[in-house]
Amino acid sequence: MCIFVENTKTMKRLPIFITALALVSSVAVAEELKLREDNISQIVKAMTLEEKAHLVVGADMKKIAVGGEVGDTNLGVPGAAGITYPIPRLGIPSIVMADGPAGLRISPKRENDPNTYYCTGFPVGTHLAATWNDDIIYQVGVAMGEEVKEYGVDILLAPGINIMRNPLCGRNFEYYSEDPLLAGRTAAAIINGVESNDVGTSLKHFCANNQEINRLGNDSRVSQRALREIYLRNFEIAVQLSQPWTIMTSYNYLNGRYTSEDKGLLEDVLRGEFGFEGMIVTDWGGGLDAAAQMAAGNDMIQPGAPRHYDRILAAVKDGTLSEADLDKCVARVLELIVKTPKFKGYKFTNKPDLKAHAAVTREVASEGFVLLKNESKALPMVGGQTVALFGVGSYDFIAGGRGSGDVNKAYVVDMHEGMISNGIVLEKKLDDYYMQHMEKERKRIAPLDEHRRWTHYTLRPNEVRDPRQLVAGSAERADIAVITISRNSAEGFERHVNRDFKLRIDETALVNEVSREFRAAGKKVVVVLNVCGPVEVASWRDKVDAILVCWMPGQEGGNSVADVLLGKVSPSGHLPMSFPMCYADVPSQNFPVDVPETGLNQSFENFSYVNKYYDQPNVDYTNYTEDIFVGYRHFATRQVEVAYPFGHGLTYTDFELSDMKVKQGKGGYTISCKVTNTGERAAKQVVQLYSTSLFPDHERPLVELRGYVKTPTLKPGESKVVELTLTTDDLAIFVEEESAWKTMAGDYRLSLGFSSEDLRANREIFVPQTTVVRKVTDILKPTDGKLFIE
Ligand code: BGC
Repeated sequence: MCIFVENTKTMKRLPIFITALALVSSVAVAEELKLREDNISQIVKAMTLEEKAHLVVGADMKKIAVGGEVGDTNLGVPGAAGITYPIPRLGIPSIVMADGPAGLRISPKRENDPNTYYCTGFPVGTHLAATWNDDIIYQVGVAMGEEVKEYGVDILLAPGINIMRNPLCGRNFEYYSEDPLLAGRTAAAIINGVESNDVGTSLKHFCANNQEINRLGNDSRVSQRALREIYLRNFEIAVQLSQPWTIMTSYNYLNGRYTSEDKGLLEDVLRGEFGFEGMIVTDWGGGLDAAAQMAAGNDMIQPGAPRHYDRILAAVKDGTLSEADLDKCVARVLELIVKTPKFKGYKFTNKPDLKAHAAVTREVASEGFVLLKNESKALPMVGGQTVALFGVGSYDFIAGGRGSGDVNKAYVVDMHEGMISNGIVLEKKLDDYYMQHMEKERKRIAPLDEHRRWTHYTLRPNEVRDPRQLVAGSAERADIAVITISRNSAEGFERHVNRDFKLRIDETALVNEVSREFRAAGKKVVVVLNVCGPVEVASWRDKVDAILVCWMPGQEGGNSVADVLLGKVSPSGHLPMSFPMCYADVPSQNFPVDVPETGLNQSFENFSYVNKYYDQPNVDYTNYTEDIFVGYRHFATRQVEVAYPFGHGLTYTDFELSDMKVKQGKGGYTISCKVTNTGERAAKQVVQLYSTSLFPDHERPLVELRGYVKTPTLKPGESKVVELTLTTDDLAIFVEEESAWKTMAGDYRLSLGFSSEDLRANREIFVPQTTVVRKVTDILKPTDGKLFIE
């Protein structure tokens, strides 16, 4: 038999004898079996056990110490976090993974190479979440993803969405919220944006990784209900809305097991219930037993060490790990690899559009600023005002946090520079003073600067010790005072109550002096909080007229602040977490507060490799006794006053909310209202939907966020009707005794407003029947025994 094929050059049809062709090609296939999208099972069959064990272990096989580390490899792309093991004989390339949540983290310079490889420093995770704007977050993701692709990276190790259980967690700046819906939706927007470039993401850290102290050895002990409704729910939402290419398991134990070794968590919950289809990777150096990780469905170990490889080989050989389980992991790694730019031979340019991304970061930053207070319209500034700029933070601005979430950016526009270049006039005497002070401080800090990126994150220029002389007379020379207060934060550390959550004495003195001086002259005082998360504001806020939280706004931060101070843009961010009155009000009092520092990275202290210790509360184990009452769920329910509630954020205008309507449809409701700009400036507003159950069955939070939508910019007088949807399933709670999500019959109040405490309209709905939304496997129970030493 013969067939005809077309010769593409001559377009003549050539006869080819098919038997001969078949013979030739089968020989070729046998010799040339190479990975393709459609031959993964064949490749798995063709791999030796050694190759399989290599593929599931990262290829940076340094002899790493036991314990996690921030990834840093010189293989693949310098400064990336890890690479996979290549198997050229089967056409399996090595793919590259790099951090992180505020943009790509790679080395900006390379040996013997005059080029630079800077990446854009975007606003940190908390800041992005504060925009409450899926569209703009998606655009950030698109920009981040382009840098990932054009720098030859395949997977961005982001976003991080662990719940902000306690305001002092050192990594909260990377994370999004104390609320699972806001965290899950923000993550989905970033993931969809990044992955629109055909590169991957890694949603992390799965899960209940809410403290840094002893992060590799701490056991998070959480009730099934709190897990389902809070600590897993954020991941569930993100997976359902974005199906990320990969998920990273966390360092901690969860109810007595390492998350990366817990088959129930990974197979039953993540894959089975949430429908996750991608690959699961450990956090860097996380977990103990490589064979148990494979058996649990944690497909890859990064960055990889010889002991992981040896353990997997030995376990298959002695039968403690089935080769079939290993094969599943191998197949999932291959399914990931075939999607990557590396596999597809993408020719990256090393020239992402950094200029365009700088514009993106400038815009998104101002959108996420939260105006906490603005007495008698202190902001925006009136054109031509001379500003007395106080605080070392104005000159040494913090654009992002430390650790793997840091970005090697080419520059940071600080407040001082941003204000000047946007035409704001600074009071000269003060400015000269600070320039000199900063020169001295920079010299003092320089020798230690090498470590500054991460472990010396608290190393900052000192504030002017006695501000009295500095402040005296400044109100005569300036029209308005702006004080910047900064707080940095780093992976591997927690923040402290006294020197960090509260203002320090030098900062309090500065606020007091400036306030006295400017108020006596009838002039306004503005505080800019350049912070990683909440700080105590209640004791000093009355002394100032406006407080603007600008978080850690990325490399264009100074320009973004200037845009907002000048009123070119109205701030429209809302708090993704509550600002408590004082630390004692925080519900999660089981937290390692003020653990004495030893100079070591605290995430590794107390790490017990073989024998897990259970003797030090909040270090060896942490009981989540506040249960589902995290953040506003606690404050609102127990009526504990907060300084500023979850969801709060002012604009430069006023909004009215009217015409709330609830329409019942199949399986749910459409809730609408009209939002009208009743003030004098253009701005956006966030409409938030909360539910309250009006019957006493189970203990429940007073209000729970069920939806939100951000309006476009509305001009003065302009209105917009917005719509939100709610299914009856969204009202379900997790009933532990039945291991089921259930929506209980009864009356519910649906409220719309501009924060969790500023609810402007409500309607009641009646759910006639209790329904079981989903029954789930009864797993992830906190165990008893020695795990529960109080
Ligand atoms: C962090 C991860 C990060 C990884 C690679 C770990 O220490 O916990 O978030 O992606 O290092 O750098």
